[in-house]
Amino acid sequence: MNESVELNDVQGIIIKGYDKLKAASFLLLEITDIAKSKQWITSLLPSITHAGISTQTIDSAIQLAFTYSGVAKMNIPAEGLTTFPPEFVEGMVTEHRSRMLGDLDDSAPEKWNWGGSDYDFESIHLLLMLYATDDTKLQIVLNEQKSTLASAGIKIKYELDSTKLPNEKEHFGFRDGIAQPVMRGVGHESKHEANLINPGEFLFGYQNEYEKYMFSPTVSPEHDPQNILQADKNNPALKDVGRNGSMLVFRQLEQNVKAFWNMADQAAKEKTAQQDPTTAEYIASKMLGRWPNGSPLTKCPVHPDPAKETFDNFGYAEDDYDGFKCPIGSHIRRANPRDNFLRDSTGDKEKDIEKSMMFMKRFRILRRGRSYGPPLAASMEPKDIINAAEDHKERGLYFLCFNSNIGRQFELIQQTWINNPKFAGLYEDPDPMIGYPGIMGEGATSTFTEQALPVRKQVKGITRFVNVKGGAYFFMPGLKALKYLSSI
Ligand code: HEM
Repeated sequence: MNESVELNDVQGIIIKGYDKLKAASFLLLEITDIAKSKQWITSLLPSITHAGISTQTIDSAIQLAFTYSGVAKMNIPAEGLTTFPPEFVEGMVTEHRSRMLGDLDDSAPEKWNWGGSDYDFESIHLLLMLYATDDTKLQIVLNEQKSTLASAGIKIKYELDSTKLPNEKEHFGFRDGIAQPVMRGVGHESKHEANLINPGEFLFGYQNEYEKYMFSPTVSPEHDPQNILQADKNNPALKDVGRNGSMLVFRQLEQNVKAFWNMADQAAKEKTAQQDPTTAEYIASKMLGRWPNGSPLTKCPVHPDPAKETFDNFGYAEDDYDGFKCPIGSHIRRANPRDNFLRDSTGDKEKDIEKSMMFMKRFRILRRGRSYGPPLAASMEPKDIINAAEDHKERGLYFLCFNSNIGRQFELIQQTWINNPKFAGLYEDPDPMIGYPGIMGEGATSTFTEQALPVRKQVKGITRFVNVKGGAYFFMPGLKALKYLSSI
């Protein structure tokens, strides 16, 4: 079934990346006066940017999301609270989840800047996301919001400011924000089929890639006396609080840029000394799966290609089944194995490809991250990053992604693919760039395997370059649901 998405009811950041709104700030808020905070949400409603608004016409955007404690503060009836997804109800910080996500050692929640304690779980209620064309405009929007919050019974607990790095790069120096799934029903059906995903993978109230409706948070009609909400798709006797809303994963990921490039530089020197001349840039690009300018190794295995900086219409099965171009354990190939998810599974390569493409539609996320902290080298070029002195400044990625099933989408990618040393027949190879070697035992280091002929090549002794410094799961409601929550 091809369903049209109700764009005017969906918060804009779920559908659009706001690339033109280069400045962003995230406020984590605590509600201290429920009645006043609800008035504030009601008054904010007309300013919330929905996906029906063209990004060409705006110079700023405002979005609002809730933690579980935040939804509970809205006085949603107890029977409704229990219908929210378990990952959201439990929160990102449970013993089980920390092990599953690799949030251990230096990434343990006790060491987080925010979100890691029971106290934060109870007292972070809202996430206010502010976007603007530049820092000056952002400051105006921030000041406006801060002045209203002061009298709205809402306290700012944490203010997280982002940084826009040159050429769409993240701190390791690679172009980011290229490969994104495209939601059906939002008017972009012309995009390539493998990338077109049913809206239910990201939004409640629509069919997902199993052609089912995700169980959405609901309330009984007597708890919606103003009849604001629509009927639930799975049980029309209930009202759907989730419709047009999505689950937002927010993780502050600190990047040790110097250590990552030192490792690549050292590995290149050792290989060159062993008569296998190579460069740090080549090794690091093999680990990511794209060159720093964004061009994919599967299509440009020898040199970066300026014409393919944002190229994304490719698979691995036909051109690069064995990983000789883009290694099987690289970040992008494990985060989205595309048409090569099933390997030697049905005994028929064509069937494997077809099934892989179908299955992979169930494990996609919409990434909406922003970097924070100053760049190590202003140019963001690998050679300048390698030559820059360590400055010990905090920098990294506010990793944000939307999905409708945190367990099947974000958590599966993080646990089963990124942190899995045995991914796709590898042995001690979690994600070389962002993975957690300690998953293999205390103090363990990992290996990166580059499939090659006549024999594979390896980099050994890889440590952890990305540590978690904060995080929480949020629910970003549709606009009607926001109205409902503020009216209960
Ligand atoms: C500091 C941490 C991270 C960095 C520096 C990073 C960097 C990158 C870069 C440079 C790309 C390629 C450009 C693009 O296609 O947009 C990429 C792709 C991707 N990343 Fe990450 N990433 C990080 C964390 C994560 C995490 C935690 C996940 C999921 C759990 C993730 C999932 C993905 C996915 C799904 C893709 C697209 C793969 C594809 O479809 O080809 N990343 N990342």
